[in-house]
Amino acid sequence: MHSKSFLAAALLAPATVSAQLNELAVRAGLKYFGTALREGAINNDQQYARILGDTREFGQLVPENGQKWDATQPNRGQFNFQSGDITANTAKRNGQGLRCHTLVWYSQLPGWVSSGSWNRQTLESVMKTHIDNVMGHYKGQCYAWDVVNEAVDDNGNWRDNVFLRVFNTDYLPLSFRLAKAADPDTKLYYNDYNLEYNQGKTDRAVELVKIVQEAGAPIDGVGFQGHLIVGSTPTRQQLATVLRRFTSLGVEVAYTELDIRHSRLPASSQASIQQGNDYANVVGSCLDVPGCVGVTVWSFTDKYSWIPETFQGEGDALIYDRNFNKKPAWSSISSVLAAAATQTASSVPTSTSVPPVTTTFSTVVTTAPPTSASTTSTTSSSAVPVPEQTRWGQCGGIGWSGPTRCQSPWTCTKLNDWYHQCL
Ligand code: G3I
Repeated sequence: MHSKSFLAAALLAPATVSAQLNELAVRAGLKYFGTALREGAINNDQQYARILGDTREFGQLVPENGQKWDATQPNRGQFNFQSGDITANTAKRNGQGLRCHTLVWYSQLPGWVSSGSWNRQTLESVMKTHIDNVMGHYKGQCYAWDVVNEAVDDNGNWRDNVFLRVFNTDYLPLSFRLAKAADPDTKLYYNDYNLEYNQGKTDRAVELVKIVQEAGAPIDGVGFQGHLIVGSTPTRQQLATVLRRFTSLGVEVAYTELDIRHSRLPASSQASIQQGNDYANVVGSCLDVPGCVGVTVWSFTDKYSWIPETFQGEGDALIYDRNFNKKPAWSSISSVLAAAATQTASSVPTSTSVPPVTTTFSTVVTTAPPTSASTTSTTSSSAVPVPEQTRWGQCGGIGWSGPTRCQSPWTCTKLNDWYHQCL
């Protein structure tokens, strides 16, 4: 699904209900706010499916594993789209966009490819068959494809893999050329992690884009995976600077796999707040750079995340907790988007169909309305009750128009310019 459809899905949502992340993102000028879909969860967990399928919250889906080489062509010539279709069909059914992930990657690459004995001709033929079949199957459905994934290692060198060994860096333009021929209408991305730190790895990724461009091959975008760590996430300004290194080359950028993990669990409330600030900086940096088109979280709930398997003792990196409660991170993102949406809305003519955003923030934190037990802060005898926010709820920040008083005994505390919370 292409950008117009992303926009339509978000703007069709009724303006009277509280705004969710994709609605706010679109109003703020992004194409989407999206999430990865975990194939094993969608049919077994109704709550997961319900939140994931809410187009106000997520305007775009990406399969966590289903389109990778080991899923789509586990044996030579045997294609299987069962797992990849779960996400494509869910997106179609819900009216959500689709990002597609991924074609040429050293990982989740079946042994028959990684351990095969190839020359340029035979490996090109294998790559062409794979790309033609997989992109052909999803033709017309993907906003973007991650054509090449993680071609740079953690030290900033070209990552050793079967493609590099056979072609040297020629496999980079080759992959993009093959992809263009298979589906000329999708955006073709290079996708990698740790580009955010603007170090040697980032320099190499810049070189990669130039290699592809100088070879005359098409490349449309660079995906910043955004697998980050609470407290070590670069600032909004630093992130915007690194995004601009790529947009200045004429490609768009996006955060494609965002999660910000705690390195120690359980997270303290201070660490949860820090996580929220880090998320706000990442999303804010995308808003600051005109060529940044959207943000995708790598799953949305701590219930389903790749992190604990890979980094023992770390995790809780997402925006909903494992019981599907929105975390401070969710509130921070919604605040930063809402502030940008407010600016965007005030700069568009009133005749446009952009619904007002000021009515939309009052349920940023899903909590029960104040009960009679929580009346301590109204001192006037006015018949109109002053709305009060519950513990952990947002009570201020740029763009916030919801309650600014907290239920007793909580105090509205400024955490950053965008987010004040009842603590
Ligand atoms: O498919 C097998 C299944 O047959 C078996 O029963 C099961 C037992 O553990 O394992 C299944 O494979 C797992 C696979 O996901 C599919 O669910 C692997 O063990 C597991 O290691 C694999 O992890 C995925 C990882 O990529 C592999 O590299 C994660 O779910 C996925 O989130 C992660 O995603 C990557 C992006 O694609 C690229 N960027 C980094 C990101 C995080 O590593």
